[in-house]
Amino acid sequence: RRAAVSPDDGPPLVVISNRMPDAAPSGDARTRNVGGLVAALEPALAARGGLWLGWSGRARAGQHRDLAIDRSVVPARASFDFEPRWHELYYNGFANRSLWPLFHSLPERARYADDEWAAYVEVNEVFAEAASRVTSRNGTIWAHDYHLLLVGAALRRRGFTGRLGHFLHIPFPPLDLLETMPWAPEIVSALLAFDLLGFHTRRFAANFLACARELAGAERIAEDALRVQGRVVRARAFPLGIDPAPFESPEDDEGVDEELAQLRTAMGDRQLVLGVDRLDYTKGIPQRLEAFARMLELHPALRGQVSMIQVAVPSRSDVPEYAAQRAAIEALVGHINGTLGEAHWVPVRYVYRSYGRTHLARLYREADVALVTPLRDGMNLVAKEFVAAQDANDPGVLLLSHFAGAAEEMRAAALCTNPYHRDGMANDLARALAMSLEERRARHAELLAMVHRTTSASWADAFLSALEG
Ligand code: ADP
Ligand code: G6P
Repeated sequence: RRAAVSPDDGPPLVVISNRMPDAAPSGDARTRNVGGLVAALEPALAARGGLWLGWSGRARAGQHRDLAIDRSVVPARASFDFEPRWHELYYNGFANRSLWPLFHSLPERARYADDEWAAYVEVNEVFAEAASRVTSRNGTIWAHDYHLLLVGAALRRRGFTGRLGHFLHIPFPPLDLLETMPWAPEIVSALLAFDLLGFHTRRFAANFLACARELAGAERIAEDALRVQGRVVRARAFPLGIDPAPFESPEDDEGVDEELAQLRTAMGDRQLVLGVDRLDYTKGIPQRLEAFARMLELHPALRGQVSMIQVAVPSRSDVPEYAAQRAAIEALVGHINGTLGEAHWVPVRYVYRSYGRTHLARLYREADVALVTPLRDGMNLVAKEFVAAQDANDPGVLLLSHFAGAAEEMRAAALCTNPYHRDGMANDLARALAMSLEERRARHAELLAMVHRTTSASWADAFLSALEG
């Protein structure tokens, strides 16, 4: 099962990402990795006969040289196990405790350790080595996300001459923040080994272009292009979308029907406010809970009239900041229910688990307001899934953080809010709950048109035609 591809005989397209569709996140309850990346890439790759290379999701000593190739699935996949040391230093460490918080503009949460950086460099080399084994020298490689910022440079050092693209699924921070990272110049220079860099928003692309000039001496030659050592590198926004169909018309499922019927009985006439996120401190879940509680204080008439459901998917649970965030949320839910609740009314229901897509779609449709209020987010696909799932005749309201990438496209029609301002968010939520049917319909129609305009498929097509064109 080892890769044995000759230099000129690889698949036309190889996608590299740390996480792959079926790899179980270690220690987490999810089995399949739901989310935009997988939904978008699977069909795009399948149509092009591509191969997907990534981490198996397992950490085992001495196994990483075995590249398992599975051609029985479409798209074909190649994966390898991590050394336990990599899992700790590269994944839990540099990727999730340095890059993740810094790129989400939370520098006080980032910490920098030399051994974690060294492991990050090493694992990017390992990915590049594995990619060289499955691709031809002049194929097309599309790398994804913050785990693989150095893989393009590592591939070039191995003589790869084909097209190299990278898409960042998280924000790219402004120069003032990026500079706090000791290896910022190395990272930016390595990114310039790609031919095309994709970001969710124009703001993130602009941040990168400014950092490339300042930290790597690249020359800006056009709105979206740099010249560096005689090569042209382009950096542009490619906003990611969803496939709306499974949210607009979810499959029939008796189990889900039954659960929803029970939820309706429990809710009675009350309005439902919904939050759905991976459990991550960038999602602003405590801030949202506090705003909900504040709303009940500022608008006492709403007590007993509205309940909130927060669904949090277990994520990165062996990273200490995530464990602390979970404990903080659980304490806050207990506090709010204990101080504001009544024997006959629970203000907040909190669920720590993942749901199937059908279940999620039906839950979105049930909600009067979705609270999508991250402190910072690359895009946030939950916002788009919620819009797709609504009944156009009686749609719910999207309350969206200014700091979600999705706000760049949805700002005009969504109700936007500032998650750093508790009283403001409390009042915005009250306004969402009181919004007239007419206004809800008008806003939803505009949002739905947008969700149809940029889908996951159109995103992949746009990126790949820019890369290959
Ligand atoms: P992130 O990529 O940071 O997790 P996004 O909002 O862009 O944030 O994507 C999250 C994806 O995970 C969405 O496709 C959403 O449907 C899925 N998801 C979120 N919460 C759950 C849940 N409780 N159960 C199943 N899927 C979930
Ligand atoms: C975000 C990141 C992805 C990552 C996902 C789940 O969406 O942008 O790269 O795969 O979160 O996180 P995990 O650490 O479980 O892969």
